[in-house]
Amino acid sequence: MEIKKVGVVGCGIMGSGIAQVCAQSGYQVTVSEINDELLNKGLASIDKFLTKGVDKGKVSPQDKDAALSRIKGTTTIKDFYDCDLVIEAAIENIELKKKIFAELDKICPKHTILASNTSSLSLIEMAVATTRPDKMLGLHFFNPAPLMKLLEIIKTVATSDETLETARAFGKSLGKNVVTAQDTPGFIVNRLAVLYQLEAIRMLENGIATREDIDTAITSGLGHPMGPLTLNDLVGNDVLYLIANILYEETKNPAYASPNLLKKMVSAGWLGRKSGKGFYEYNK
Ligand code: CAA
Repeated sequence: MEIKKVGVVGCGIMGSGIAQVCAQSGYQVTVSEINDELLNKGLASIDKFLTKGVDKGKVSPQDKDAALSRIKGTTTIKDFYDCDLVIEAAIENIELKKKIFAELDKICPKHTILASNTSSLSLIEMAVATTRPDKMLGLHFFNPAPLMKLLEIIKTVATSDETLETARAFGKSLGKNVVTAQDTPGFIVNRLAVLYQLEAIRMLENGIATREDIDTAITSGLGHPMGPLTLNDLVGNDVLYLIANILYEETKNPAYASPNLLKKMVSAGWLGRKSGKGFYEYNK
């Protein structure tokens, strides 16, 4: 099946990035938010990201304008009626996601593939909220979605081979390196990375090293683009906390239990870059 029009549910950090990368790859995109304020904020962040790309000489001004012209914002889920693929990027709440998929199932044509950008929730639980579990799978992007090269595709027991192949071709058309994983807690990346991200917090909590030294050790010693505490601030400490809790619930592996420091930081609203303070301080 050929995908021409893509829908993205949610225009937060992930949804806006996914909408942008799809538009930059030539797809017509409809992106939704729950109200005009959040929609305008999300659309403004796409404009800002593309402008930074132009300033860095990575995106031509013409390509920026063309990408923006392909994106239509909406606050009405009904506007996904003509999409060939809809990618849900709402908050990590299984009941909310099931509700969104049940609605999309009613609105979208029979051929439409439904995908979730969930980083840890069960895809089959979402799939059975629709009448098309064979056309449902996970498309997990990484933050910042326009720059990170990976797309994790998550296959449930019900995903058809045709859906999987269409999704793989779609991922490649976005310029992503595509990997496929079974519908298991954390898939590939988060199953590994969350252990490392939480352990870095435990090291800080136990006074083993300073935040700077933990991050420098990993950037200089392992060649990662950023250290784990900087990465936590980028991902969002609330998001990490949520994912860790889901992984702990699903696996009962104590290594996924959230350190106290993370819990306290989330309670304090120290969520990372987006709140201006996390493990480091940022100018909002
Ligand atoms: N448009 C186009 N290109 C851009 C750009 C923009 N707006 N901003 C930066 N770039 C390009 C730069 O030109 C540069 O390209 P070259 O390497 O070809 O020179 C490259 O991106 C890196 O840019 P910078 O050095 O300026 O660094 P940055 O601070 O802007 O961003 C980063 C760097 C890409 C975020 C990098 O630090 C990185 O890869 N960090 C790791 C991020 C990561 O691990 N993300 C995954 C999080 S986990 C997740 O998302 C999953 C989940 O479920 C929670």
